[in-house]
Amino acid sequence: MPEKSHDFGGDWTTEKLERVAKYLKAYATIMKEKAFPFAYIDAFAGTGYRTLRRSDEAEQLMFPELSEAESQQFLDGSARKALQVQPRFYKYLFIEKDEQRFRALQKLRTEFPEVAGDIILVNAEANSYLQDMCDNRNWKKHRAVLFLDPYGMEVEWQTIEAIARTQAIDLWLLFPLGIAVNRLLKRDSNIGTAVRNALNRLFGAEDWYETFYETTTRISLFGPETHRHKVSDFDTIAEYMIKRLRTVFPGVAQNPLPLLNSRNNPLYLLCFAAGNPKGATTAVKIAQDILKR
Ligand SMILES: C[S@@+](CC[C@H](N)C(=O)[O-])C[C@H]1O[C@@H](n2cnc3c(N)ncnc32)[C@H](O)[C@@H]1O
Repeated sequence: MPEKSHDFGGDWTTEKLERVAKYLKAYATIMKEKAFPFAYIDAFAGTGYRTLRRSDEAEQLMFPELSEAESQQFLDGSARKALQVQPRFYKYLFIEKDEQRFRALQKLRTEFPEVAGDIILVNAEANSYLQDMCDNRNWKKHRAVLFLDPYGMEVEWQTIEAIARTQAIDLWLLFPLGIAVNRLLKRDSNIGTAVRNALNRLFGAEDWYETFYETTTRISLFGPETHRHKVSDFDTIAEYMIKRLRTVFPGVAQNPLPLLNSRNNPLYLLCFAAGNPKGATTAVKIAQDILKR
């Protein structure tokens, strides 16, 4: 059991990880027959483990026969899940900014000795590392699946553009739909400069403002008065993000999956985009199947 694991998420976390792992298996099975070495890249890798939140544990304590094993067990995080996928990947690249979590990741080499030599660990900020990796290496003869699993709005649009430019990387992206974006889009359209800039960085565009807010003009006693109000909801925000991904990737899954909390509110949106123009149709078909509710 790890000394320090990583405490987050409930059922939606399991759902997210299972779906990505399913794609990894399908991807590795197909790519094994092709000429390219292929890697798994996890840019928000965490510790390798996750545990259930206390509230989830409490719920499970109502069913002691289930909870004994479950709530006290350390569950696999994305890194450990990827390392278990068969057929195996040629290389595994795990990026983690937090030093303590990064130290925990190093144990993966002892836990997976059969692939230890092919595990690359990087203690870095994901955006700058990925932008450099995508733009300054030759991707012609390499392929990868990349998982971006941030807590919030950490992924910059510039990073997504750099990933797409490689034409070699398939992307699974956790988009912070409810946890951040919908909350920041205030009903009265009063959005401060810092938030506006953060949303610009996330979307790589500024037209989200016109898309998510409508202007109406009313004639009052004092002449025409202009009002702006929010017309966006979870669906329109999701559609906008998918449209943005389509501007840079040759294929994007049309049915991104909202990951819901226990009150059925979307926290995140699990999105898929295919990087290689030749493989995009097949990749998107597989991902869309995996994303079905
Ligand atoms: C939601 S957790 C990832 C969980 C992991 N994918 C799993 O399934 O176990 C997000 C991780 O990203 C790390 N992180 C946050 N911002 C980062 C950044 N800018 N660059 C790299 N890592 C970052 C955090 O320290 C945290 O471990």
